[in-house]
Amino acid sequence: MKALILSGGKGTRLRPLTYSGAKQLVPVANRPILFYCIDNIVKAGISDIGIIISPETGQEIKEAIGDGGRWNAKITYILQEAPAGLAHAVKVARPYLKSSPFVMYLGDNLIGRDILKFVGDFTKKKSDALILLKEVENPRQFGVAEITKSGSIIRLIEKPENPPSNLALVGVYIFSPMIHKAIDRIKPSSRGELEITDAIQELILMGRSVKSCILDSWWLDTGKKDDLLTANAIVLDQWGKKNIEGTIDRSSKILGRVTVGGNSIIKSSTIRGPVVIGENTIVENSFVGPHTSIGDDVRIINSSVEHSVIMNGSEVLDIERLDDSLIGRRVRITKNSGHKALRLMLGDDSVMEV
Ligand code: TTP
Repeated sequence: MKALILSGGKGTRLRPLTYSGAKQLVPVANRPILFYCIDNIVKAGISDIGIIISPETGQEIKEAIGDGGRWNAKITYILQEAPAGLAHAVKVARPYLKSSPFVMYLGDNLIGRDILKFVGDFTKKKSDALILLKEVENPRQFGVAEITKSGSIIRLIEKPENPPSNLALVGVYIFSPMIHKAIDRIKPSSRGELEITDAIQELILMGRSVKSCILDSWWLDTGKKDDLLTANAIVLDQWGKKNIEGTIDRSSKILGRVTVGGNSIIKSSTIRGPVVIGENTIVENSFVGPHTSIGDDVRIINSSVEHSVIMNGSEVLDIERLDDSLIGRRVRITKNSGHKALRLMLGDDSVMEV
């Protein structure tokens, strides 16, 4: 069994962060989302992994992941020249996948459990596709599946007006090589993409067995700011640890599960976990509240931060309260004392609530 991680795409929903970087490398609890995908694939016993990359962000992804040695995995990078759809990505990867069955994993999806059981089910049931589904409250916003009592897929519908179920497609699929035949038979959709849902529907038309499994853990598509903050909170809740490598002065208080990386300094501050703080970061005279991830080389001075993600090299100075915020790299947020007017320098597509 091989795995194919889709890490190309446009990332329009996470702009402006995705103007300067890949969305799959946006950190959750200070680790790129993509790292969690690889963890999960390797845990399922798969070590031959192809990663789809785009011309814009491919180099950055290669630098972050390397050759896969840290997971004892072999990584093959596959360039998709344009984001022409999930099934198009599989087509581009065909010379790599050859006749192997494979797990297809969207590189911006996080799930709260391993996929070993699903890989086992796929092998046992000898189907041509196994699709992970999750019950959601708002099925109109997702790809939705209609299934039989035994879990066979009857049909898939993208963002349906009248959803036949509340079962959304999670971004994890397992395919036999038969999917390539189905992809050869489909045409681009009205949005000009080769859709994986159309290819799966084609498999059903070809009389092939397409099964589903319902995910019993949380699932998050980290494509938007609030989803990303939720993912950050859940991952910190579940996997946050107490681990202090940096220096904490005597007047500071560390409460709960807090990680402080090497060379970081906490001075006259309270940190209430779960929180993760990277390396070479300074927190001084400040409060850092639950569900916050702070990267490397960050300065938080005379401020209060909660339920936020602050990436490498940023500064938060004299800010009374910063909540529910997603702050990119090398951002500077300071108090504008003495000026009535706001003084800003915001990139394209920035969002600010004042
Ligand atoms: P999406 O989130 O559906 O698409 P996107 O990355 O273009 O994002 P947005 O909607 O914000 O513009 O893609 C799911 C995953 O698949 C994501 O990790 C990107 C990847 N992908 C590819 O690798 N190739 C493609 O052709 C497409 C459409 C997506």
